[in-house]
Amino acid sequence: MFSPVRIVEMGPRDGLQNEKAEVSTEDKIQLIHLLNRTGLPSIEVGSFVSPKWVPKMADSGAVFDRIEKLPGVSYPMLTPNMKGLEVALAHGVQEIAVFAAASESFSQRNINCSIAESIDRFVPVCESALAAGLKVRGYISCVLGCPYEGAIAPVAVASVAERLHQLGCYEISLGDTIGTGTPMETKALIKAVSKIVPMDQIAGHFHDTYGQALANIWAALDCGVRTFDASVAGLGGCPYAKGATGNVATEDVVYSLMHSGIETGIDMDRLLDAVAFAAEMVRRDVSSRVGRALLIKRAA
Ligand code: HMG
Ligand code: MG
Repeated sequence: MFSPVRIVEMGPRDGLQNEKAEVSTEDKIQLIHLLNRTGLPSIEVGSFVSPKWVPKMADSGAVFDRIEKLPGVSYPMLTPNMKGLEVALAHGVQEIAVFAAASESFSQRNINCSIAESIDRFVPVCESALAAGLKVRGYISCVLGCPYEGAIAPVAVASVAERLHQLGCYEISLGDTIGTGTPMETKALIKAVSKIVPMDQIAGHFHDTYGQALANIWAALDCGVRTFDASVAGLGGCPYAKGATGNVATEDVVYSLMHSGIETGIDMDRLLDAVAFAAEMVRRDVSSRVGRALLIKRAA
């Protein structure tokens, strides 16, 4: 029997940063309030990045200020540099995330610097955040493939993971940004990274572009990973990979785990309320299999 799984909700950040529809600040807040009712332990709210680079996250501070913060629930914000951290501190954010890549080309396109320069930038961000009592999470993009460089060696990911771990990140989330990874590749990746970062500090962040995300989660579970990022209604995409879809849908993950006897602490019925609202908010049909099937069943 597998021990409980922690799901980190990505919809309001990774999801909405990439959706075409214009989503109002009110609707973002309403979505987080619906997610608050589900039992999710962590809901990523937004990012303090350049609004020229990611216009959809420009109202992240306003969203953060106005959401109800439940005790025991984390509301992380992405911060790529000291400027982002300063804004986070001004808003009273308790958890931040820094984000690196395992591929040089992706690092340049995403944050306009090399991998080494990004780590140098994160040194003062992590030091100041930790000194102020914040928790710091670390992401690595392109862990199972890069849109510009193709295959990425697990050892390259492990070396970035080591640096983020040394900087004090409590967890390293491994991002299959373009969703090309497969279960056996996932296992090889987790094996390489877990030689350096303890298994309970590794999270899986699978985008579902090639329909592999749930299979990859099961492969990672088999290796001992117990934290996964997911996005309600499968919200999202990737600006650097044409046709890319969002993170694996939260409801797909919860369904698969709960019917396999693995506890997530998430109430499916309440999650469905958030799924329905999220789809309406971005003006498209529910794309996740479980979301669609269970909403039809509920309406019958
Ligand atoms: P840059 O142009 O090299 O930065 O961008 P700069 O320091 O030269 O500053 C340029 C301008 O940005 C200046 O404004 C700064 O003030 C402003 P201007 O003088 O031109 O008016 N600026 C900022 N504004 C607000 N907040 C800040 C900030 N920093 C500078 N923190 C930078 C470098 C990192 C800022 C830029 O490349 C950027 O914002 N990138 C963000 C990219 C991003 O958010 N990507 C999506 C998140 S990562 C992801 O989705 C992957 C993940 O899900 C895992 C996976 O799936 O792989 C996590
Ligand atoms: Mg992502």
